[in-house]
Amino acid sequence: MSEQTVQVKTTGKILQSPCGPIIHGLEDVLIKSTSISDIDGEKGILWYRGYRIEELARLSTYEEVSYLILYGRLPTKRELEDYINRMKKYRELHPATVEVIRNLAKAHPMFALEAAVAAEGAYDEDNQKLIEALSVGRYKAEEKELAYRIAEKLVAKMPTIVAYHYRFSRGLEVVRPRDDLGHAANFLYMMFGREPDPLASRGIDLYLILHADHEVPASTFAAHVVASTLSDLYSSVAAAIAALKGPLHGGANEMAVRNYLEIGTPAKAKEIVEAATKPGGPKLMGVGHRVYKAYDPRAKIFKEFSRDYVAKFGDPQNLFAIASAIEQEVLSHPYFQQRKLYPNVDFWSGIAFYYMGIPYEYFTPIFAMSRVVGWVAHVLEYWENNRIFRPRACYIGPHDLQYIPLEQR
Ligand code: CMC
Repeated sequence: MSEQTVQVKTTGKILQSPCGPIIHGLEDVLIKSTSISDIDGEKGILWYRGYRIEELARLSTYEEVSYLILYGRLPTKRELEDYINRMKKYRELHPATVEVIRNLAKAHPMFALEAAVAAEGAYDEDNQKLIEALSVGRYKAEEKELAYRIAEKLVAKMPTIVAYHYRFSRGLEVVRPRDDLGHAANFLYMMFGREPDPLASRGIDLYLILHADHEVPASTFAAHVVASTLSDLYSSVAAAIAALKGPLHGGANEMAVRNYLEIGTPAKAKEIVEAATKPGGPKLMGVGHRVYKAYDPRAKIFKEFSRDYVAKFGDPQNLFAIASAIEQEVLSHPYFQQRKLYPNVDFWSGIAFYYMGIPYEYFTPIFAMSRVVGWVAHVLEYWENNRIFRPRACYIGPHDLQYIPLEQR
């Protein structure tokens, strides 16, 4: 095999090492070609399968968008009906998974989600069949059918896991999924045990649409790394959930609302923003993005929704007012302007959730409920041309040290 020198263009941070340059955080490094989503970070544009996010947010539902992401095109009416019916059938969990969630009732729901997804994978017969096929390197039409079925199951089951955890964490019995409700409304129904307000259902649906895919952030990359070893889809999703949990990624929506609650008044916005500009100061959660160097288009959409929501239900904790004041400071501050840091989707997303009565530790799990379709779609895309991920590190420690027996140390 001939050796090739690969040139990587990056605008990111390069660390020098004795073995050569290190592209810190793999910024701008391409890992594959994709037709799932595209981002124009300079202009602030996001497309799923070629459709602008604004169009999908305005006209579509999560059911339709998740079909689009998974299968690569918008469904016909019949295809969508069949897909929705299959998803409803897949909503229930294996009894062992329910016990895992019950046992983790006091843990942060992201831990429970990770564990429950892994448990569901251990008990899914389709998954066992796929694991066996992959272990002998077989991934043909029959296996692909299994993989897509598993992908649909994962999308369908995530809201049940999240809602069941919420119920157990409050010492309540679970509310089983209802077949006559859509994906978003059923989720709120399983959480709170009553039919949700239509604006709240629309808010969850909109949020799920906006987060369904975003090219290859850390969580999606984590899913690729696991899948590239020919491990299974459930394990890949569990790894993605683990990566999403961090405050630099999905955890930012929870942190943003916690900050607004702590600040308590829009009058403190200037002080908070100023503190974030100081060396070693706390980063402003919900601000900045590795790819967007413009206002995040998803943030614009969800800001509008949050405005409508507080217009209908009020802003008793001043969350929208505080976020608006912080936004104003950020947009006019030279520190943020010079670094092209704008509010991202997490800046606004938690406000309506908080007022819906969803505790903030459930914000990131709801992100996962949406992004699961992106994770599985990317894994299925990667499996079409799989190669195990195996990067290198530049070793800078000593070699050939002499072992000193314990008693002589
Ligand atoms: N507040 C204050 N300063 C910031 C912030 C912020 N939120 N974000 C970036 N900076 C500064 C950073 O200190 C650095 O300054 P300097 O050049 O003086 O060292 C400069 O901007 C570049 O930042 P970076 O950390 O090198 O950028 P990155 O691409 O590695 O990080 C990020 C991107 C999203 C992790 C970062 O902006 C951040 O930590 N934001 C807050 C957390 C957040 O909102 N995360 C959600 C991201 S969107 C949803 C998702 O994809 O999960």
